[in-house]
Amino acid sequence: MALWGGRFTQAADQRFKQFNDSLRFDYRLAEQDIVGSIAWSKALVTVNVLSSEEQQQLEQALNALLAEVQADPEQILQSDAEDIHSWVEGQLIEKVGALGKKLHTGRSRNDQVATDLKLWCKAQVEALLGATRELQQALVATAEANQDAVMPGYTHLQRAQPVTFAHWCLAYVEMLARDESRLQDTLKRLDVSPLGCGALAGTAYAIDREQLAGWLGFASATRNSLDTVSDRDHVLELLADASIGMVHLSRFAEDLIFFNTGEAGFVELSDKVTSGSSLMPQKKNPDALELIRGKCGRVQGALTGMMMTLKGLPLAYNKDMQEDKEGLFDALDTWLDCLHMSALVLDGIQVKRPRCQEAAEQGYANSTELADYLVAKGVPFREAHHIVGEAVVEAIRQGVALEALSLAQLKAFSAAIEEDVYAVLALQSCLDKRNAKGGVAPQQVAFAITEAKKRLA
Ligand code: ARG
Repeated sequence: MALWGGRFTQAADQRFKQFNDSLRFDYRLAEQDIVGSIAWSKALVTVNVLSSEEQQQLEQALNALLAEVQADPEQILQSDAEDIHSWVEGQLIEKVGALGKKLHTGRSRNDQVATDLKLWCKAQVEALLGATRELQQALVATAEANQDAVMPGYTHLQRAQPVTFAHWCLAYVEMLARDESRLQDTLKRLDVSPLGCGALAGTAYAIDREQLAGWLGFASATRNSLDTVSDRDHVLELLADASIGMVHLSRFAEDLIFFNTGEAGFVELSDKVTSGSSLMPQKKNPDALELIRGKCGRVQGALTGMMMTLKGLPLAYNKDMQEDKEGLFDALDTWLDCLHMSALVLDGIQVKRPRCQEAAEQGYANSTELADYLVAKGVPFREAHHIVGEAVVEAIRQGVALEALSLAQLKAFSAAIEEDVYAVLALQSCLDKRNAKGGVAPQQVAFAITEAKKRLA
């Protein structure tokens, strides 16, 4: 039975009911709805709507319902209740009879759904924070194991300067650390209880909303009832967090897809996260990574969708706002899955050091070093840049690395070049020199690993 039958003489059209009902997705708020209802029943005691005995009876029944829901959440989907709020109330009335009908005193589904959703978001943020940290830990462990794996670093997807696989891993640790702190910021603004704001104007019962907020684990209660029932900023913020986080994971995926190509051959992905072709027996495709990259799209879509849904909504609650859930649920589920999947990809990845080293050597990644060398010998940088450019053209013509040119050949480009140039052109020296904070020098990378480990401990 609907919660609002009294004013109506005609039943809802079945097609409208299906269009309007939200149970098929908001059943995921069952636990939060029950927990919120228990807190509300306690508040009703303080304003003498319920006696302590009545409240205890309600709480017992709600706790029993909670256990049922936790054991089998999908059972809710059997019902034709309009939404999770009607379902919980209906179940309560089945359990305790008429007493159950008192629970909704002074409460509206508008403050109720806002409360349920915030409680759900808080739990989800905890899960996302955990997964974000786990992926950072996996990246740090991979970095630690690959501190001496030299590979080309790129700009414009052209080999630029040598880096290490460890340094690459730590770049993603930084992105994830920002994702983590964005979630924590979101949590601070989200941690404010809507319960007791009624439909829009506040509740007519003298409830201590701060106390009620505390019972539900919120840091405080909201300040304005009109804003409270129409505020979905936390949905937008979480979707924005997810969108940025997914952009990071998508770039991570794209880098690894490239590293895993036959052309690059820097890594080999584990069989655990790749799949074969139905036609071509030789293939081992990076499906996990492609899906991570691909799923980035739907998450951005959910953010844009919700922005458009809220734009232009008059205060306060409008049914449009029921559209907040499916996109949010899907986006946060997707983000969480992709965080877990990214960690799984790292577990068992093989870095092919000889091939990485070879690519770094072949890419003239030490050209800057030669220019710096000439500068140290008194050649102005602009001139040095030009000289090295000519030397690179010659090395390319011969199909060899710069350091494979003989001293006589190098001297043809500049008389300032001496025997000591070879030590400078060694890849290791390119790395060692970048020893300012944040650089690729082994000392800096080791320091970054230690710091990250401390932070993640
Ligand atoms: N299912 C609704 C939602 O998700 C619950 C709030 C309903 N409120 C109302 N006034 N009809 O937004």
